[in-house]
Amino acid sequence: MPSTFLLFAVTLILSVDLLTAVVYANPEVTALSALKNSLSDPNKALQSWDTQLVDPCTWFHITCNDQNYVTRVHLSSQNLSGKLVPELGNLTQLRYLVLFKNNIEGSIPAELGKLTNLDSLALSDNNLSGTLPSSLENLKLLKILNLNNNKFLSGAVPRVLFMFRASTSRTQV
Ligand SMILES: *[C@@H]1O[C@H](CO)[C@@H](O)[C@H](O)[C@H]1NC(C)=O
Ligand SMILES: *[C@@H]1O[C@H](CO)[C@@H](O)[C@H](O)[C@H]1NC(C)=O
Ligand SMILES: *[C@@H]1O[C@H](CO)[C@@H](O)[C@H](O)[C@H]1NC(C)=O
Repeated sequence: MPSTFLLFAVTLILSVDLLTAVVYANPEVTALSALKNSLSDPNKALQSWDTQLVDPCTWFHITCNDQNYVTRVHLSSQNLSGKLVPELGNLTQLRYLVLFKNNIEGSIPAELGKLTNLDSLALSDNNLSGTLPSSLENLKLLKILNLNNNKFLSGAVPRVLFMFRASTSRTQV
């Protein structure tokens, strides 16, 4: 009898645990896990990205603010290849997305236009292609936009980004 009760209690605790895990799954962990899974990482730059943790704030190459939201992803010169993922658009407090000097290919996800707190977008020296999404026009706080040395289709820069380039000397497209 007591052992049946114990089993019941353990089962109950496990279910509550599972429920909690589902309810509190951190979308930033989910987003960065998607990025990790999409990239090939021969130098193990992403080895500390333990997706079982409650937030990504102790991971290498990630900086959080004091509310544990990701503000910086800095992964330059890490020999990463593969593609960017739309889930990056879920890092709502992101200010710096720095991925220059890797081997990343494919297009820039339109969802990066959701990152309205973005200050710097540095994707130069990769193998990115396609057109620049017009959603990048939503990035009103952007001060640094560095996209040079990629394979973007010519004539594919949104009009507002041209205006941005004209008005900001630090910017390179
Ligand atoms: C980058 O990775 C490739 C294999 O993907 C390897 O051949 C090359 O040596 C690496 N370069 C550096 C600088 O780690
Ligand atoms: C994150 O982004 C993806 C793709 O943009 C989306 O499908 C997903 O619902 C978003 N939200 C969370 C909480 O992961
Ligand atoms: C860039 O991508 C093309 C194919 O799209 C590939 O042939 C080329 O080797 C890549 N270059 C680098 C430096 O990875």
